[in-house]
Amino acid sequence: PVADRIADLLGRMTVEEKVGQMLQLDARDDLDDHVLRKHVGSILHTSPERVLRARELTLQTRLQIPLLVGEDCIHGHSFWEGATIFPTQLGMAASWDAELVEKVARATAVEVAATGIHWTFSPVLCIARDLRWGRVDETFGEDPVLIGELASAMVRGYQGDGLADPTAILATAKHFAGYSETQGGRDASEADLSRRKLRSWFLPPFERVAKEGCRTFMIGYQTTDGVPITINDWLLNDVLRGEWGYTGTLITDWDNVGRMVWEQHVQPDYAHAAAAAVNAGNDMIMTTPGFFQGALDAIAQGLLTEDALDRAVSRILLLKFEFGLFADPRLPDEARIASEIATAEHRALNLDLTRRSLVLLRNDGLLPLDGGYTGDAGGRALSGAAGPRRIAVIGPLADDAQTQLGDWAGGSGQAGWLDGQPRDMITTVLDGFRSFAPADWTVTHARGADVLTLEEDPAGAFFPDGQPRPQIVVPSPPDDALIAEAVAAAQASDVAVVVVGDVIELVGEGRSTATLDLIGGQIALIDALADAGTPFVIVLMASKPLVLPPSAERASAVIWAASPGMEGGRAIAELALGLIEPSGRLPISFARHVGQLPIFYNQIRGQHGDRYADLTQSPAWAFGEGLSYTTVEYDRLRIVDTELGEGDTVRATIELRNTGSRPAHEIVQVYVRDIVTSVSWAEKELKAFRHVDLEPGQIVTVELSVPVAECTIVDAAGRRIVEPGEFDLLVGPSSREEALLDARFRVASPAPKAVQH
Ligand code: IFM
Repeated sequence: PVADRIADLLGRMTVEEKVGQMLQLDARDDLDDHVLRKHVGSILHTSPERVLRARELTLQTRLQIPLLVGEDCIHGHSFWEGATIFPTQLGMAASWDAELVEKVARATAVEVAATGIHWTFSPVLCIARDLRWGRVDETFGEDPVLIGELASAMVRGYQGDGLADPTAILATAKHFAGYSETQGGRDASEADLSRRKLRSWFLPPFERVAKEGCRTFMIGYQTTDGVPITINDWLLNDVLRGEWGYTGTLITDWDNVGRMVWEQHVQPDYAHAAAAAVNAGNDMIMTTPGFFQGALDAIAQGLLTEDALDRAVSRILLLKFEFGLFADPRLPDEARIASEIATAEHRALNLDLTRRSLVLLRNDGLLPLDGGYTGDAGGRALSGAAGPRRIAVIGPLADDAQTQLGDWAGGSGQAGWLDGQPRDMITTVLDGFRSFAPADWTVTHARGADVLTLEEDPAGAFFPDGQPRPQIVVPSPPDDALIAEAVAAAQASDVAVVVVGDVIELVGEGRSTATLDLIGGQIALIDALADAGTPFVIVLMASKPLVLPPSAERASAVIWAASPGMEGGRAIAELALGLIEPSGRLPISFARHVGQLPIFYNQIRGQHGDRYADLTQSPAWAFGEGLSYTTVEYDRLRIVDTELGEGDTVRATIELRNTGSRPAHEIVQVYVRDIVTSVSWAEKELKAFRHVDLEPGQIVTVELSVPVAECTIVDAAGRRIVEPGEFDLLVGPSSREEALLDARFRVASPAPKAVQH
């Protein structure tokens, strides 16, 4: 049995080998030192050459314990030139489609496993509430239920039929927990979170994937209540391992152990930091080379016991045995690389998901472009059913292949050490219109604006090794010549499509933004297009919700595309041309102004003064919103049985009617409002959703169900409970109150238990 083999190995390992087994170091550094002198158990940021070299070195070691190879394959195999790059997690979330997301994770696992990587640091389960945070794009948005649903799907997809499956990779639930609750949106700043708040919103998605069998959890960077999460005993031991019974492996984030010494100053030296991290239950220590000597010193000083090391090392060895790495180290496989990366099937799946991830936020009837426009945007009707014929595709992101891929996608952002993804695998918006507009239409292009340049930040802090911090973004000034060219292109066309958003320098770890505005010459470009007289569509290719300028009100249509990946330009063109139906729904609210943050829909009920005098309360676009090219009416919400007990399920039906002339893919959203709660609680919370297809004219009765056990709050004592009383079931196409139908149900107090005399 595996337990005996682990015990046998532990019995033969030296203390140095055990400490090393807990280390994961960067394969781009000195591999010889990592493997031969530090006895590492794992490497990250690899290439096939580095994996093969590390294997050679492993075979020179005493016990030849195979390495676990980890990587951030976040939305596709980010570290592989020519791999399938899907929309970012936030884009995937806009599909609200767990089945598709599971398939995406499965396809990613197949591609990743072929290249000799065993472990992806994905999915992200952080709740994105401050839109200034640079990692909003890596999340599934703002709602714990949607996050839990999609993250579980991703975990199932990555881990496949179990670790023995050669295409399975380890999933990582990260960043445990509350990392996104930053101050001012600044990455890794202190998160001010009470335990009740954690239990109310931030922990439930993690609990769900822990129960789903997610094999590893990554610890966030931040401190909460003064304690770095890396050593938060309550969270790691009482909650995760204790209450949830989690038996998987815990990995720190990048140099969390070192940061406690050199950045957070809560440990005097590496010996204390190493001891604190291991004693708190961390198993693998990411990229803290000083952990090696630190842990040995800690043992010598009596701060750490070998038993504590054994506990961590056995969890790592267990993964290696379950993977079968001792029999087959799962090295990069040339034949599989040739046949399993970016297959036609994976590319088709990518296109499916991308089509489903686009959210139509506004449409005065201009879209779809072939539909016979009858509105009067810009004072001019288009040429009817024959379509616009002349399209100007404008904007700095209209033909920016690498930015379209988003963060963690070679050639841009975090994976910047690749040369980039092959240009011919990426369809930009310009490519999309050129390929998919009718052959006799003309498609012209003008850049219209620059976005930014980078300069060294004179006030920037410095890393200890003297490396200057990343440069600071300097927005480019509007360029009159570029704008004039864009206006001329628009005026020579029947319709303009302007693609604006954020570029990769504004996205990612350590790259939060103080503003949500479009930067550089982009606002001046939209202003000029609004005055140009040609109807225009804004494609917001923005990694996260950005704020549009007032002139954007004059756009006939707005599409949010997130960072849509390789097929983005094709899906956007198809949507605009009416070749597909819009079906994405927002997984996150859009603010009207950065000062409205936080703007998420499930805020706790406030009081009369809980508003701004100079800004409306309402978001620009709310969680769950998204339009179709048709209209769907919701009617006749009926609850089957309105008197329920705690063990029952609320069962209801609602009628949907497609009253327009095109098909609809509707996402029916089910919210619950607890009418009176013992503590202040959200006005409503998403509890379920259903995907429904409707042909024009079709009427469908949809069955809905919500277990009463999920109609909970977290009470003042921090317990998640159902409070008997009245509830509203709210059903509709978005979280907007006015979009929802409601029906009341009652949960009775449990009958008093019979007392035995
Ligand atoms: O997995 C990531 C994490 O999300 C942020 N810090 C670096 C890790 C490894 O690249």
